[in-house]
Amino acid sequence: MVRVIILAGCCLLALVSSGFCLSYGHEPIGIESRSLDAIYQAALKEKGTLRVSWGGDAISNGAGIIAAFTKRFPDVEFNLTVDLSKYHDSRADRTFDTSNGEDDGTDVVLLQTVHDFPRWKKANRLLPYKVATWNDIQSPFKDEDGAFTGCFIGEFGTIVFNDDKAPNDTVPTTYQSFLKPEWRNKLAMTYPNDDDAILYLFTLIVKRHGWTFIDSLVSQNVTWLRGTGTPSELIAKPISQNELAASFAASPSAAAVILTKLPTEDHYVTWPQTAAIFATTKMPETAKLFMSYIMSDEWQADGFPSSGYATRKQFDTDGVLNQTLTNPLGFVTFMQDRANVERWRFQFETTLGTPQGVSPLLNKTVI
Ligand SMILES: *[C@@H]1O[C@H](CO)[C@@H](O)[C@H](O)[C@H]1NC(C)=O
Ligand SMILES: *[C@@H]1O[C@H](CO)[C@@H](O)[C@H](O)[C@H]1NC(C)=O
Ligand SMILES: *[C@@H]1O[C@H](CO)[C@@H](O)[C@H](O)[C@H]1NC(C)=O
Ligand SMILES: *[C@@H]1O[C@H](CO)[C@@H](O)[C@H](O)[C@H]1NC(C)=O
Ligand SMILES: *[C@@H]1O[C@H](CO)[C@@H](O)[C@H](O)[C@H]1NC(C)=O
Repeated sequence: MVRVIILAGCCLLALVSSGFCLSYGHEPIGIESRSLDAIYQAALKEKGTLRVSWGGDAISNGAGIIAAFTKRFPDVEFNLTVDLSKYHDSRADRTFDTSNGEDDGTDVVLLQTVHDFPRWKKANRLLPYKVATWNDIQSPFKDEDGAFTGCFIGEFGTIVFNDDKAPNDTVPTTYQSFLKPEWRNKLAMTYPNDDDAILYLFTLIVKRHGWTFIDSLVSQNVTWLRGTGTPSELIAKPISQNELAASFAASPSAAAVILTKLPTEDHYVTWPQTAAIFATTKMPETAKLFMSYIMSDEWQADGFPSSGYATRKQFDTDGVLNQTLTNPLGFVTFMQDRANVERWRFQFETTLGTPQGVSPLLNKTVI
């Protein structure tokens, strides 16, 4: 029944667009040859608002791209929503279901839930598209048929600290050293059972150090928080407000007092944050414009914070695929096996309890 609906939706679209039903395995699509400005002109002929679902756990995660895209393409109607990837994908699936396959509730998704993309591709729910910079994107990070594209490299496991509360030379570069008594009450971490990339980091820790590490960490009276940005927000506060000083399970914040360093022995997490266009989109040219912009030299050079890692060769100055302490495909593999992900998740929930607090996107006290 569902299958029939999907196929009907697919072939309906095939009539009005480019025959993408045949494109997987039959008719390879070409690489975009138009300039950003030419795609912009095509996008301006479409009516409506481009809906973009941007995975993140703080409203500020979307601020940079909204400002840059709006400035560059002022006449495109554009609505980018930031939410946890696990809620964006659920919402798209539910809308697809309740609309009998006519709408995904969004046009473009850029998410951490990398396991969704092969599933959506298989169900013919994605509009294949190869941006102009396609050949510069490293092969492991893109779908060979153009169904989805890794846009930038996310990273967790970096040591984040407040330089006022814990000067650089006192902050260790191995996770094990944070089990020393002087770090008691001073650690803030994201719940591993609330974010799958943090979960994957903790699976790497357990594989290396065993469950006794987790027991010892818990006995350090760690402050567990929802939202990967939340620990840094609290760590950034002055000592008069709290004594939280460091984390190895958080994103850094822009606060001047927050510094980071990579672990020197432990394995940390990197992954391609991945984007796709839904085949149900009524604005394919505008969706292509958005994809093209994200993967353009302009955005890749300036848009994403100073990481030495990128899915595009030209911007991957530190070579993410060449590292010994991180494998950017490890998380992708981990996520494909949901039963295993859920087993790990509940291992941590057994010890830590359910994540406490409202969605980090709603918690105005820390954002
Ligand atoms: C943008 O999209 C969100 C999520 O669908 C919706 O709640 C909001 O009303 C939209 N905003 C505008 C200005 O259309
Ligand atoms: C912290 O100290 C290390 C080792 O001395 C140094 O290499 C690094 O640049 C310092 N990091 C920061 C953020 O100052
Ligand atoms: C646990 O750590 C928090 C945050 O630093 C602190 O407020 C609290 O007093 C600590 N609890 C105990 C029992 O030490
Ligand atoms: C990564 O390794 C490959 C293969 O050895 C090499 O061609 C490439 O230059 C390296 N990249 C970086 C950024 O070091
Ligand atoms: C928001 O986050 C702060 C810091 O973790 C926490 O103390 C507070 O309870 C949270 N608020 C809600 C409504 O969850």
